[in-house]
Amino acid sequence: MRILITGGAGFIGSHLAEKYLKSGNEVYIIDNLATSTEENIQHLIDNPDYKNLFFPTIDTIFNVDKLTELVGICDVVFHMAAAVGVEYILKNPLSSIVTNIRGTENVLDLCRKFKKRVLIASTSEVYGKHEHAPLVETDNSIYGPSNKSRWSYAAAKLMDEFTALAHHRESGLPVFIVRLFNTVGPRQSAQYGMVLPRFIQRAINHNPILVYGDGKQTRTFTYIDDVVEALIKLIETDKAIGEVVNIGGSEEISMKSLALRIKEMTKSPSEIRHIPYDEAFTKDFEDMRRRVPSLEKLYSLIGWKPQINLQTILEKTIQFYQDIPQKVKN
Ligand SMILES: NC(=O)c1ccc[n+]([C@@H]2O[C@H](COP(=O)([O-])OP(=O)(O)OC[C@H]3O[C@@H](n4cnc5c(N)ncnc54)[C@H](O)[C@@H]3O)[C@@H](O)[C@H]2O)c1
Repeated sequence: MRILITGGAGFIGSHLAEKYLKSGNEVYIIDNLATSTEENIQHLIDNPDYKNLFFPTIDTIFNVDKLTELVGICDVVFHMAAAVGVEYILKNPLSSIVTNIRGTENVLDLCRKFKKRVLIASTSEVYGKHEHAPLVETDNSIYGPSNKSRWSYAAAKLMDEFTALAHHRESGLPVFIVRLFNTVGPRQSAQYGMVLPRFIQRAINHNPILVYGDGKQTRTFTYIDDVVEALIKLIETDKAIGEVVNIGGSEEISMKSLALRIKEMTKSPSEIRHIPYDEAFTKDFEDMRRRVPSLEKLYSLIGWKPQINLQTILEKTIQFYQDIPQKVKN
């Protein structure tokens, strides 16, 4: 099969590419390296087994000619390219909106033209400011005002979902929408505000681990291998066409507990320092207190449950950063 992954040099995209290459598929990617580096895919480029299977294009999804060529020759499309990460969104509000709305429109228009299966990566952020758990796919989206620009990411991704579903309803486009909750593992960048790599890198470097607010806000984490398996199963499942599905972890943990656990596991002398949100971010920021997915729908569609528990996730991710110290930046 020929697989196209937009954002294929990114964290999730590069793991997805690797998994498909390992099973002998041809993989095409398009990525402009906005929030990633070629280093993420260098081992795939260098692997002689993948010489005739892997076709990376360093370009933007706004290059419609290139995108047309790629969508035209591939059998399925994973649309992972996006402006990602709270810090990145707050620093680049306009280009992030354009990437996340117009970029997705480009991909969907072409998938419709060529009648290709397409999976759209959405996010748990679309739920917004809920305090209850677990979050079910039919829950309301509750956002803050438009002067809090952090909500633009959630709103843009929600717009992607509306657009994808409209294509499905109007033309029968075989589209799959996944709401990813915090996905973690090797190659995730800490640079744009992702909490787990940030905590681990600061602990390893003996720098203060910075916990925003009171630290009582909670998250779940899913290991990249589990997520990749879910994505691949989902795009092969006809009954998932036109559906919006959560993919996430089941162990809820507060950010304060996470910081303590990482400090302990890395035997780090780092101080755990609480800093107010308005010191960490601009005043455009509001946090989500809880983010725990209901996984019932995903289980009923593909029989998937996360296999890798939080303890193992932390061990594996810490190991990755300890083994590759040159990647440790703060
Ligand atoms: N990692 C998570 O926990 C998480 C959670 C929710 C949603 N998601 C979604 O999953 C997808 C992948 O995220 P990730 O964690 O791998 O992030 P990532 O930043 O590693 O990957 C995104 C990739 O898209 C590329 N990109 C950005 N703009 C582009 C453009 N105009 N043209 C081509 N490529 C472009 C970036 O360079 C990057 O390689 C994104 O859509 C993101 O919104 C991720």
